[in-house]
Amino acid sequence: MRTQVAIIGAGPAGLLLGQLLHKAGIDNIILERHTGEYVLGRIRAGILEQVTVDLLHEAGVGHRVEREGIVHHAIELVFAGSRHPIDIDTLTGGKVVTAYGQTELTRDLMDARAAAGLATLYEALDVRPHGFDGDRPTLTFTHGGRTQELACDFIAGCDGFHGVSRQTVKDRITEFERIYPFGWLGVLADVPPVSPHAIVYGNSERGFSLCSMRSLARSRYYVQCPLEDKVEDWSDERFWEELKRRVDPELAERITTGPSIEKSIAPLRSFVAEPMRFGRLFLAGDAAHIVPPTGAKGLNLAATDVKYLASALTDYFVAKTSEGIDRYSQRCLKRVWKAERFSWWLTNLMHRFDDTQGFGQRVQEAELDYLVNSRAASTALAENYVGLPL
Ligand code: APR
Ligand code: PHB
Repeated sequence: MRTQVAIIGAGPAGLLLGQLLHKAGIDNIILERHTGEYVLGRIRAGILEQVTVDLLHEAGVGHRVEREGIVHHAIELVFAGSRHPIDIDTLTGGKVVTAYGQTELTRDLMDARAAAGLATLYEALDVRPHGFDGDRPTLTFTHGGRTQELACDFIAGCDGFHGVSRQTVKDRITEFERIYPFGWLGVLADVPPVSPHAIVYGNSERGFSLCSMRSLARSRYYVQCPLEDKVEDWSDERFWEELKRRVDPELAERITTGPSIEKSIAPLRSFVAEPMRFGRLFLAGDAAHIVPPTGAKGLNLAATDVKYLASALTDYFVAKTSEGIDRYSQRCLKRVWKAERFSWWLTNLMHRFDDTQGFGQRVQEAELDYLVNSRAASTALAENYVGLPL
């Protein structure tokens, strides 16, 4: 078997890369460890920057997000029992974000890939990259009980945080990491969102809360919880009650509750691996970096990595220049670190930390007050939220 670009991982990064390369006339094969249904079963964030929406159009899969995505012109911050809108549209001179679930985006990409007849080998096990420091990289893997080899020109490691690509080069990377001392308990429910046109981020003495949505009939809510908590500790009743206690009374009154259709606890982490290129092996998306979900940057960062990678590979195959490839890591990391900074900052601002005690608490209160009363501070939040320029 042979292809131009062998992609490891059929998450949003791998699928989007495959589609962009296909549009540029570059053939590619995706090897995915799990089944397609499994990949679609993972619930992740769902706020898209305009750059990401534009990229979906470029990849030929923008029609559904255009039709079903919900445009947000504002976000809201709750603290000290009151809610404050931040009008991201006005503050950024017309930029907005779009609420559209990662599951739906993944489905759109999978459907487009199948329609174009592009190869994805699901349940490809024991994938291993070889020879990427030379000119003839290969992947070995087991599929359908048979050991196989895929020869290629380049390998794209789009295999998420726990994938094999970064592991393969672990002696050659520098890792930067911050672990946060709490998790997010997330609930998905088929109830109308309490705030259909703005995500609500809450800082309360009981901890962080977030009111988000997947559609006008499906909501996604989160509360900060101790890392030791188990999902079984949280009945639906307990969750709804806790959420209502963390937002302002008017909003609490309007929350429609209902049975959860998914409930999970996720740890929060900031992580960057440098560099993102090793000869003919590239890391993209969660394989190279993780942000805490506060600010919803994970998927958008994966999308911009892929934009840079698709353009670098197109330059290589079509314009016959390796300049894009040589600049890939540096270009990505510049944007990655800005999103890391923003996600870390928003996480620190909105959560309760046991060890901040009185001082840290007062600084948070002062910063929130400054944020909603200073146009300069609100603008800094808004322009990061909608995504910094490429
Ligand atoms: N071999 C083959 N496939 C693998 C391997 C492996 N050894 N290891 C992991 N994978 C697959 C996973 O099963 C998964 O489907 O790689 C895929 C990685 O997908 P994601 O974890 O979704 O990562 P990515 O595509 O970078 O998506 C970016 O944005 O919102 C954030 O974290 C969120 O997933 C999201 C991310
Ligand atoms: C979500 O909808 O899941 C979501 C939205 C905004 C965030 C994080 C998650 O900052």
